[in-house]
Amino acid sequence: MDKKIRYAVIGCGDFGGNHLYSLVQIDEIEVVALMDLHIEHCEEKKATYKLSNANCYDNLEEMFEKEDFDVALVATSDRGHAPSTIYALQHGKHVVCEKPMSLFVDECVDMVKAADEAGKHLLVGQVCRYAPGFMKAKELVEDGVIGELYFVESEYAHDYLGLDGIDGWRTDVEREPIIGGACHAIDLLRWIAGDPIETTAYSNHKNLKDWPTNDTTVAIFKFPNNVIGKVFTSIGCKREYTMRTVLYGTKGTIIVDNTNPDLILYLEQIDGAPFAAGQVKGLSEKTVKHMIKVEIANHNVYEEHKSMIAAIKDGAPIKTTGREGARTVCVCRAVVQSAKEGKTVQIEYPV
Ligand SMILES: NC(=O)c1ccc[n+]([C@@H]2O[C@H](COP(=O)([O-])OP(=O)(O)OC[C@H]3O[C@@H](n4cnc5c(N)ncnc54)[C@H](O)[C@@H]3O)[C@@H](O)[C@H]2O)c1
Repeated sequence: MDKKIRYAVIGCGDFGGNHLYSLVQIDEIEVVALMDLHIEHCEEKKATYKLSNANCYDNLEEMFEKEDFDVALVATSDRGHAPSTIYALQHGKHVVCEKPMSLFVDECVDMVKAADEAGKHLLVGQVCRYAPGFMKAKELVEDGVIGELYFVESEYAHDYLGLDGIDGWRTDVEREPIIGGACHAIDLLRWIAGDPIETTAYSNHKNLKDWPTNDTTVAIFKFPNNVIGKVFTSIGCKREYTMRTVLYGTKGTIIVDNTNPDLILYLEQIDGAPFAAGQVKGLSEKTVKHMIKVEIANHNVYEEHKSMIAAIKDGAPIKTTGREGARTVCVCRAVVQSAKEGKTVQIEYPV
């Protein structure tokens, strides 16, 4: 049997637990160490996931001195991503780092540079690229099924009331919702429509009154090929979590949400159309509605780790590299700047 890929988990809170749930299901992986500023979180996860051979630490340097491993999973709160990731890369480890890669573009640049210099893989947890519905939507666009894209929109609406994180890290003054949460929606649109060129954005703050950031933002974008787009985010909303995404093309429209098992596809009814027709009230006679079943799996970190294994073992490409994570943060930061300064911002990509 092949040697197992050894993981150390840095940050054993809620989402560190979500990763461990998947890690223990992957035969090729062995979790050898757990680290957290609160060591009791390591002990708790060690017990929950029956990791009897894993050692627990509350000191990063000590763990690196004592443990032999291949991959560091960084699932700390956002401010811990850059220092832990750079430290791990400089000590010869591959890294899976949670999103947002960092709250700051310059830290993202340093992280990409550290991965390049180390010659190690850096995978950023932009998990929407592993969600089956979004993958299907991208495939339909790439196959030309909806023709030429002309408008794309996504949203990240998530009720954060009471969700400020251990030690209150989500209320960081730099964690505008467009970075902390809607980096998912922005990354998804970048993946499908390319890197936006400019943005104009507006924010307000009417819900989470005791939070230091805005709680709502809408941003419009110019994408390549004269595609226009929009992202809406609210972290103070009174509704269930949604990432409803709509992709409009000259021959059809896709509506997909990572909380819904049906992807809706509207298509111009032409001879030889790839799907069976089904007339729907409210549609023109020439447009038909199709429902495509998709798995929900909206936090599919299992596939992130399978991707890391394939990269290590076979050199397979990673779709959420450090560069991709960094470019998403560049867009998020441009949105924050636009809303703050009240003007259109040209988006710069230093990586
Ligand atoms: N991909 C997704 O959809 C998704 C979903 C939820 C959270 N996240 C991300 O995962 C990260 C963790 O979120 P969470 O919900 O688990 O938060 P959490 O508050 O439940 O846990 C964070 C943990 O990190 C530890 N920690 C903080 N700084 C540390 C450091 N420097 N070194 C070691 N440990 C440190 C804390 O003690 C805590 O145990 C965040 O960056 C968040 O944005 C991603």
